[in-house]
Amino acid sequence: MKRFPDNFLWGGAVAANQVEGAWQQDGKGLSTSDVQPQGIFGPIVQRTAGDSALKDIAIDFYHRYPQDIALFAEMGFSCLRVSIAWSRIFPQGDETQPNEAGLAYYDRLFDELARHHIQPMVTLSHYEMPLGLVQNYGGWGNRQLINFFLRYARTVFQRYQHKVKLWLTFNEINMSLHAPFTGVGLPGDSSKAAIYQAIHHQLVASALAVKACHEIIPDARIGNMLLGGLMYPLTCKPEDVFETLQQNRSWQFFGDVQCRGAWPGYMLRQLHEQGIELDITDEDRAALRETVDFISFSYYMSGCVTTDEALNQQARGNVLSMVPNPHLPSSEWGWQIDPIGLRTLLNMLWDRYQKPLFIVENGLGAKDCPQADGTIEDDYRISYLNDHLLQVAEALKDGVEIMGYTSWGPIDLISASKAEISKRYGFIYVDRHDDGAGSLTRSRKKSFFWYQRVIATQGDSL
Ligand code: BG6
Repeated sequence: MKRFPDNFLWGGAVAANQVEGAWQQDGKGLSTSDVQPQGIFGPIVQRTAGDSALKDIAIDFYHRYPQDIALFAEMGFSCLRVSIAWSRIFPQGDETQPNEAGLAYYDRLFDELARHHIQPMVTLSHYEMPLGLVQNYGGWGNRQLINFFLRYARTVFQRYQHKVKLWLTFNEINMSLHAPFTGVGLPGDSSKAAIYQAIHHQLVASALAVKACHEIIPDARIGNMLLGGLMYPLTCKPEDVFETLQQNRSWQFFGDVQCRGAWPGYMLRQLHEQGIELDITDEDRAALRETVDFISFSYYMSGCVTTDEALNQQARGNVLSMVPNPHLPSSEWGWQIDPIGLRTLLNMLWDRYQKPLFIVENGLGAKDCPQADGTIEDDYRISYLNDHLLQVAEALKDGVEIMGYTSWGPIDLISASKAEISKRYGFIYVDRHDDGAGSLTRSRKKSFFWYQRVIATQGDSL
């Protein structure tokens, strides 16, 4: 018996602001990502004429996508997760008419994928939004954002209804708690009350987008996207176990709203006890009842929780601060590698929601050193992915319904946290460096051929 079902989708995932470049081309407006040239934990800057940032060109996917898609097809991809840069479609965010040049670009991209029989999965907002919505409206703290987002979502649903059947609303929606500017367009020092109110508006917008998608493309499926921040108790002390439950709920809460259609009691209690009363209208409550068709998530690492202050030295992960697990190795960036955690997470989400799951990000960021002849022997990446995919196979045997797997960054791209390209995830190497040098030439790493075989054998080569 095959390890993975025949209809399992295999592929990779990228985000517009990390691959496209062309930051000012064809009428695109400035996005929140454009003013964070050093990544989501870097400063917010004012862009001036003549300055430059790595993301401005990124890997030039905007122009080179036909070549890149041909390489994805060569690996056997059946799915590619991309995002639409909202500011290509509505440059300031509040226009009544979309930017045709931006819409036409994604038409070309989806047509190219179709030529290679690769199904697009499209994230509506992946770590960016039009900067105009922050400057002129105060980001998601303002209720008006719900309607601006909905106009954008309806526009792209209408336009691509025959080309895109898999959609996601907000990338890692729980990330706003850790990087509020990237997530909801609020300053980093915003109050908890302001951040949760903005999150509420975004959750309502997400639910309304789900409804619009169901109306406009009845045969499409639309999911949410969670950063799967799996936490373990550092000890079996009951206090640690309960605190771990609470910390897991800090991200599961988003899934609870998006899958169950209402704010859960534990979160209302937590906010109430901190003196935070949110503005949640009856109309909002009705909107939230429209739930997602499937759950997608990213998984890179797990972490630990302790109530012991002395042990509580925080190790900074991507967007979450986690106490290191003494039983796990770490990547060069200090992310702890835990393949079994992926099986745990898949089971946890399946048990909790009983909705199909899609692993839309997983991978190892590492420095690659091309040899004299240009080859790259990235056995560390192969080993990371192989071990994680074996756990996906275990979860399938557990009875978890899994739609597919798109590894993060199948082609090297600009990292989100620090905007580096030296942190590489790809099966395909891109000749570009942190100082901006490089020819942008693409080449196949050893992992390219490994993944090609995994897909060709439907996982049996793992
Ligand atoms: C996820 C994001 O948090 O992690 C991606 O959705 C990001 O956009 C990925 O690139 C890996 O993080 P980083 O910082 O290594 O790029």
